Amino acid sequence: IERDSTVTFRFTVMMKGPINMAINPPVDATKTPEWAALQKHYDELQSEGISLKQWFADDAERVDKLSFDAGDLHFDLSKNLIKPETLQLFADLAKAVKLDERTKAMYTGVHINNTEDRAVLHTALRRPVEDEGKYIVDGQDTVKDVREVLDRIYAFADEVRSGKWTGVTGKKIETVVNIGIGGSDLGPQIATQALHAYRKQVRVHFVANADDANIAKVLTGLKAETTVFSIASKSFGTPETLLNAHAAREWFRDQGLRAADIARHFVAITSEVQAARNFGIAADHIFAMFDWVGGRYSVWSAIGLPLMVAIGEKHFREFLRGARAMDEHFFTTPYRRNIPVLLALIGIWYNNFYQAPGYAVVPYSHNLRRLPAYLQQLDMESNGKHCGIDGGSVALDTGPIVFGEEGVNCQHAFFQLLHQGTRLIPSDFIVPMRTAYKVGRQHRFVVANAFAQAEAFMRGKTLAEARAELADLPEAVRDALAPQKVFPGNQPSNSILIDELTPFNLGMLLAMYEHKIFVQGTIWGINPFDQWGVEYGKVLAKAIEPELNRDQTLHHDSSTNGLIDFYRACQQR
Ligand code: F6P
Repeated sequence: IERDSTVTFRFTVMMKGPINMAINPPVDATKTPEWAALQKHYDELQSEGISLKQWFADDAERVDKLSFDAGDLHFDLSKNLIKPETLQLFADLAKAVKLDERTKAMYTGVHINNTEDRAVLHTALRRPVEDEGKYIVDGQDTVKDVREVLDRIYAFADEVRSGKWTGVTGKKIETVVNIGIGGSDLGPQIATQALHAYRKQVRVHFVANADDANIAKVLTGLKAETTVFSIASKSFGTPETLLNAHAAREWFRDQGLRAADIARHFVAITSEVQAARNFGIAADHIFAMFDWVGGRYSVWSAIGLPLMVAIGEKHFREFLRGARAMDEHFFTTPYRRNIPVLLALIGIWYNNFYQAPGYAVVPYSHNLRRLPAYLQQLDMESNGKHCGIDGGSVALDTGPIVFGEEGVNCQHAFFQLLHQGTRLIPSDFIVPMRTAYKVGRQHRFVVANAFAQAEAFMRGKTLAEARAELADLPEAVRDALAPQKVFPGNQPSNSILIDELTPFNLGMLLAMYEHKIFVQGTIWGINPFDQWGVEYGKVLAKAIEPELNRDQTLHHDSSTNGLIDFYRACQQR
């Protein structure tokens, strides 16, 4: 065994079976009295009649009873189809499914990712150095291992930022191009965009898609001698990433640099050290990822390298500190006031009681524009499962369809359906209260729109109100038009206000969603940490790609054969 922590870890895991059979079976939430109590509460609310507008009028303290703070984040949950007493029922259910046991199992390194027989320790990535020696998992001091890798990356990022790290011709590095996909792209990308105001010196680009338009556009105008490529792939086997990594290497050679120069211009973040070395990356420039961190939970790890280059060590540490603050909140706050727990249960309320088809993520912030994409992976790759931890079918609908877009743009697109469609679709409005840019009255305008939309979703507009607005029109026209202007209302939303988009607050926000998704997975009895569906995607195209080239007999269904034939014909043009 090499004295490389990653290799040591992998050795330990390889000694175990492919599936951890020892994990406690989940509690079937639907069979608990607490679930029955929630169902009864739901039925009572339905027969009483739901009117958020009325509930606000009846209870002057509703907003206080349903608002919570964590650090500089403010959560107004009062525009949900719940009463203040619903929160206790939520908390009771979280307790009934033994959330506390499973949370402890997670942060102490039990192999709760049972189908891959792995620990789930993204929280270890943000533990303080004082915790060294306290979290020994599979014989390894996880906190110490994390610190050692992060220290190496901080040093690298600092050299690149300060210009000490030069390219082969002695020039400063101007651009870092991250090549990775899924968790090896979305996390660092969203964080780098979100913290744009903290960026200095070096430009950071992201290439994820295997579509050549992606890499071609990024490379346009770059110079090999001032560019560093960071190949980010936990497995170092993801086809899209390898394709792009090879394209980058060829581009590098085409620019007149030698194969030996690659050492100064390519780094890798991976847990497959040998594969990265085979690609030509120097051992010193390979940063370890740990077996126990999943791709979509890895922004806090070496995968954060592009972010570190963009914002520097000090701010990256703040980002981790923010996540840690949310961990502490989640681990220690009673469920009745525990924000990830409450948001998770609110999600379950709509998913499993109201049968809502999905929920919208709406950041009123251009810098958070990739948050919906990030949460799509985090949520849907984690909880899009039909099979329970015990191998049986789940009793409930699991992960919701997550979609979204930055506000105010989405107001001119899918908001119509939220205002006047026939479906219940809850939203998360995420709104920074201050901006670093201070251009005109732009920010006030955006904030006003966020508040106004959430209010309109909640209030709706009655037929009488619509008619009153059309008072100047002839009676017949008013009768015809007024129903079109009715808004049903009672469209729920969470307002998540962030004092300012700082590294600390961003860390809190992202960690909050991680824990929310974990709580939901626990209630649904699934393992949120594997992803057999997307793994399947990695092998699917392997059979078809060679067939696109060759004139051979096809054995697919007639539709797939037709698509392949069409592609072949287009290549003859
Ligand atoms: O597509 C599946 C997936 O495994 C994601 O979970 C992961 O984030 C992504 O591929 C990239 O994987 P890797 O970092 O191994 O290249």
